[in-house]
Parts: sequence; C-alpha cells; structure tokens
Amino acid sequence: MQTLPTFPPAVTVDDAGRMRFEGLLCSALAEQYGTPAYVYSAPAIRANYQAMDQALGRRLTSPYEIFYAYKGNSCPAVCKVLHNAGAGAEVVSLGELHQALLLGVPPRRIVFNNVVKTDEELDYAIRAGIGLIVIDSESELEAIERIAGRLGRVAAVAFRVRPFVRAGFHKHVSTGHEETKFGFSAEALEDVARRAAACRHVRVRGLHTHIGSQNCDPDKLLEAADVVFNLTRRFREGFGFPVDLVDLGGGMGIQNEDLMRVAFDFDALARGVEERLTAAFAPSARPAIYFEPNRILVADASILLGRVVSLKQDVGKRFVGVDIGYSTFVRCMLYGAFHDLRNVDDPCPDHPVPCEVIGPLCESGDVLGANLPLPEPKVGDVVALLDAGAYGYAQASHYNSRPRPVEVLVDGGKTFVVRHRETLADVLGRFEIPAHLQGGYAGA
Ligand SMILES: Cc1ncc(COP(=O)(O)O)c(C=O)c1O
Repeated sequence: MQTLPTFPPAVTVDDAGRMRFEGLLCSALAEQYGTPAYVYSAPAIRANYQAMDQALGRRLTSPYEIFYAYKGNSCPAVCKVLHNAGAGAEVVSLGELHQALLLGVPPRRIVFNNVVKTDEELDYAIRAGIGLIVIDSESELEAIERIAGRLGRVAAVAFRVRPFVRAGFHKHVSTGHEETKFGFSAEALEDVARRAAACRHVRVRGLHTHIGSQNCDPDKLLEAADVVFNLTRRFREGFGFPVDLVDLGGGMGIQNEDLMRVAFDFDALARGVEERLTAAFAPSARPAIYFEPNRILVADASILLGRVVSLKQDVGKRFVGVDIGYSTFVRCMLYGAFHDLRNVDDPCPDHPVPCEVIGPLCESGDVLGANLPLPEPKVGDVVALLDAGAYGYAQASHYNSRPRPVEVLVDGGKTFVVRHRETLADVLGRFEIPAHLQGGYAGA
C-alpha cells in the first residue's frame, strides 16, 4: 500500500480522530456545501506568502518582487488574499489580465507572460500600461512595436530565456530545457536583441526564465540564474539595454521524488541568488529580482472534499468510486501526480485496506490512486484529497457534461462561498439547435 505523507498545517486530526481544516470539521463542511467542494485556507495562503517573502528578504539585498502566477489558481478571492498580502500578478491570458485589473492590482505590478499572445491581448496590455510583457517570439516583438507605435506608447518588455536546464517532475511541466517550446536560446537571443535595438516603442527592461514546476531543488534555479545573469551583462554591454530586472519564474515544489512533503529551501535559493548577484554586478548595477510562484503559495492550503458513491470488489481489488473525476481534478490523470486522499472521519485508520479510488468519468485513466490505504469504505463516506489548491479548479472542465464544483474560503474561522457550484444551466446553457434539426426524432 502507498505510504502517505504528513498533513499540511491547515489539516489537523482532533481527539476524536476526525479530520479538521482550519479547525472546522471536514464532514460538516461537506454537509454544508455538498461535494465535490474545493476548500481554501486564507491563513495558510498568507503564511506561505510570508514564509517566502521573509526568507527572501533576509538574504537578498537587491530589491525583489513576488508576482502570484494566476494560472495555477485564479479564484478571485484567493488572488485577493495574496494581493492584500503584497503580491503582484503574473498572468497568461486576456481573462487573467482583465481579472488582475478588476481586482485592483496596479498595472505596474502585473507581468504578462505566455508563449503565444494575440494582437488583441497585446493591445489590451499596452493600453493598460502593465509593468512587463515577456516576449516569446520574434513576431511578438514586431507586434508589440507595431501596436505600441500605433498607440503612441513605449512598452516595457523582457525576453524569455531557455537556459537549457531540466527541472520539473513531468515532461509536460519541464520548461527550460533544449527542446521546449518556451523562450529563446542564448544564440537566438542575439538576433532578437538586434531587432529590439532598432525598435522605438519597446524598452527592454529584463530577462525572464521559468524552468519547470514542482522543482524542489534550489540549485536548478541557481543554474538558470547563472545563465540569465550572464545574458543580462551581454544585453547591457552588447546592446545598451537598461535591463534592470531579472525574472526567475516560479516552480518551487512541495513534494519530493518519494512523494513526501518537503519545505522548499528559500534560504538556500536567496543565498545563492545573492552570491551570484554580488559576483556578477557592481552594487549599483544589480537588477531587481522577480519571482512568479503559484504552487508553493496555494497548493497545500486547500483540500478537495468528495464522497464515496460506489463500491465494487473484483479481480482482487476494492474499487471505491467517488464523485471527484478528472473534470474536477485532473492532475492525477494528466501528470500521474500523487495526491494523498483520506476518509475524513478516520484519516489515520488502524486497519487500512488497499483501495483503488476511481472517478466517475468514462475514461480508464480516471483514477485518483491505485493503492490507497483507507478504512473499510462505505457508500456515503466523505473523503478529502489533499494539496488541491494549485492546478485544481483552474484545470477543471465540463468533460462528460459535469458542472464545476463550489469553492469555499475559510478565513478567521468563518467560511465564505467564493465561487458558486455550477448548475446544468452553466454546462448546457449556450447551445443552439439549427431550426432544420429541431423535432423529428427518428428513433421513437
Ligand atoms: C511562466 C510561468 N511562471 C510561473 C509559473 C508558476 O509555476 P508554479 O506553480 O510551479 O510555481 C508557471 C507555471 O507553469 C509558468 O509557466
């Protein structure tokens, strides 16, 4: 059977052996809000942000900024908790950019990333005067020059660098190696920098890299920092660009290769960045350092509550069917990610039995765990999938025509619905049947 990791700080077990989230009984939360339900802890999110911020602040003498990467969890209330704590926003689409502005993030504290950006997105970003657009293709540079020129603006940009560093737990989240679609190699950057030097509506403020997600090794980020700091010098000396910032991306992990919980070593990261800055730049010439984390801030601050709906014993296995499918939570299916899952009324059973916990979708890959130790399961049991806060709801879909779940925030011991459970009207509400196809069912 799978060995299970420890619980994150927001999850506790009371004297009666029941699971609580921020002190609230998980079974009561499931009763009140139904299942599936994402539940987020505002105090845990704030604590994660402060831990990162303080560790960086203790070591870094250069200015640094943390931009919360919306892509992993763009629930507006979650974003607001982080903005109120001091984070800017890193956004990857028109929708996310619009949301950041709606939430009151000052434009200069928004970084717009993404490998492919449309003219519509660039036009919106330039009009809004956002702090940084991270360029990922030659044609994007041309589009920005054209659009900013038409608007009579100068756009602040960075170039995304592919530093040839491999990091991340799965090939789909490793984004800094030789073959990835992201960023420019050092060689390609020479040409694009020459083109940028001829642009009148572009100001090259920085270089950016993001090497992958769920990376627990600070040295990988430092390897990438070495490459980008060298290029920063080349950009300044060779092309005369100001380059006053370097964005080292996100990707800090919470789970090691043995699937155990780990605390990312921000102290080692900050110490390493500081040493490299000292070696590479005169004190007055140090760039500011940007970070764009998602997972490390929100992953362990959430549980996803579900309910056992069906049981079956066959081929020597106990199949436990729950109402969490990959339309609700796709990471186990998409990346083979491991997520701890417990029965909330008996989270640490004395006599666990191995269970294959399966979702309701018509897909053989819709399995949350093949060999999870649960107490003897019963229909109606409430389960909690842990560390659900990053890339959970954000990747939920309507697959199999299923509405997306409710999102609930716990703060100050109180609960708030921060996004309502969808209904079938949300799933089915926007279709049309052409007039000539209406009526006339042939199978009656
Ligand atoms: C460019 C960029 N920045 C930041 C992030 C956030 O990564 P993580 O959630 O691993 O911190 C991602 C995620 O893939 C990304 O692509």
